[in-house]
Amino acid sequence: MCQTERGDRVKIFIDTAKLEEIKEANSWGIIDGVTTNPSLIKKTVDSLDKNVSIEKYIEQICREVDGPVSLEVKSQGAQKMIEEAKKLYDLFNHVNDNVVIKIPVNTAMEDDQENYEGIKAIKILEERGIPTNATLIMSPNQAWLAAKAGAAYVSPFLGRIDDYIRNNMGLKAGEDFDKESYFDEDLLERIRSEKAREIIKGDIKEDIGRIYLNEGLTSLSAEVKSGVDVVRKIKRIFENYQFKTEIIAASIRNARQAMEVAEIGAEISTIPFDIITQMIKHYKTQEGMKNFTKDIIPEYDALFKK
Ligand code: E4P
Repeated sequence: MCQTERGDRVKIFIDTAKLEEIKEANSWGIIDGVTTNPSLIKKTVDSLDKNVSIEKYIEQICREVDGPVSLEVKSQGAQKMIEEAKKLYDLFNHVNDNVVIKIPVNTAMEDDQENYEGIKAIKILEERGIPTNATLIMSPNQAWLAAKAGAAYVSPFLGRIDDYIRNNMGLKAGEDFDKESYFDEDLLERIRSEKAREIIKGDIKEDIGRIYLNEGLTSLSAEVKSGVDVVRKIKRIFENYQFKTEIIAASIRNARQAMEVAEIGAEISTIPFDIITQMIKHYKTQEGMKNFTKDIIPEYDALFKK
């Protein structure tokens, strides 16, 4: 079967640094790449034998998959990130020619810090032939600028965007919602218009004022409706202007988000191992299996013993 018949224009990356997860999912024939970040590396190294060399471990990850392996830099200034990117590239790209460097789209941690260091680094690395994955993308505008600077990939963080929207509505993770729960943007839209209807009294100016300032709708309004919506908007912008940059839907927290970004046409989804596992499960499939197995008649069974 040729690659296009297997849907090679939509790719699945595994969002983990754990080699055993990468190997297992790769053996199922569904993995096209790997994404890591410093937190995923920390989680993995914490669970490893102290004598394992991280360099050798990352080499094994690169060897395991033929598709892109994203490795992230650690500094904030453009020059430092470029040096680190080169270091990571020199250390690991020779293994399987598949290293992509993750650069945060904006490395500022405070308002008074430089905002364009990530973009600068992306531009220079791409000019030097080192492919980049613009990470920590939380808005369509950030993706647009990263693509303009030449990023090979942009990674919108769906789960974290949903968390942010829910937090702005006064909801707390762990108390009011589970991080893994699906965030329903349609439900939010319905609540928003219902609330707006309740507020409308007749005078447009006063009503607008009431809606946006006084009666709590501000917390429900956002430039984007959800993490999935960010992917939808990025896709539209990239298509409008024929950017070659590919979207990696990241920070995926449940199987429904994975399905929705595939429907939208994100070229890639990077998915944690446990969610890849959820994607294959269905109660009715299990039930069907029980019934088929129960209905095997001896004559049919005998065919397999010939
Ligand atoms: C992948 O590129 C990202 O680093 C990852 O998906 C972040 O996921 P999280 O928001 O669940 O930490």
